[in-house]
Amino acid sequence: MNKTKQQPLKNKFGQYFTPEMVADFMIGLADIVPDSKILEPSCGAGVFLDLLQKNGFENVTAYEIDAELATQFQNVKYESFVTANIKEKYDLIIGNPPYIRWKNLEENLKQELATNPLWNKYCNSLCDYLYIFILKSIELLKDNGQLIFICPEYWMNTTHSVFLRNYMVYNGYFEEIYHFN
Ligand SMILES: C[S@@+](CC[C@H](N)C(=O)[O-])C[C@H]1O[C@@H](n2cnc3c(N)ncnc32)[C@H](O)[C@@H]1O
Repeated sequence: MNKTKQQPLKNKFGQYFTPEMVADFMIGLADIVPDSKILEPSCGAGVFLDLLQKNGFENVTAYEIDAELATQFQNVKYESFVTANIKEKYDLIIGNPPYIRWKNLEENLKQELATNPLWNKYCNSLCDYLYIFILKSIELLKDNGQLIFICPEYWMNTTHSVFLRNYMVYNGYFEEIYHFN
């Protein structure tokens, strides 16, 4: 018998949490009012949820795949954002999605992507898990809704990301891009 080595959750699910100062800066970029509908698709320990709550935003939904995280918040759905059947549209989708190269993805996450129409249309095995979070989030925005993500920059310049970039400019426009060194 071969014992498989368990990947730590940090690597398996891309768990790198956003510093509060950065999350605060990102929330400051949002054009929202107190009853705006807000989604955090991969909330981690809940830094965005905490700050949104402290700033009086109550209409917030979140997803997280790791049921041990953000348990102090009532509004977290513990299921994969990739397969979640979401009927609502949002004024703001904000967060720090997981970024994991296809070759490093767990088999069950690869399976989720294999049956995802957006992934199949715009991505291939050179693409990053991050891309499905961008594509699905754009689909879930109301007209004039805002997507504010912090993520690595390779989607901006790699050849295989051209379909993602085209999708983004056909379905919206870039308001601001901040490059953190
Ligand atoms: C880069 S971390 C960021 C967490 C949080 N948004 C923050 O800013 O601190 C990405 C998070 O996505 C979660 N995650 C990974 N795959 C997911 C999925 N399919 N659906 C929902 N959450 C997922 C991970 O467990 C991790 O907590």
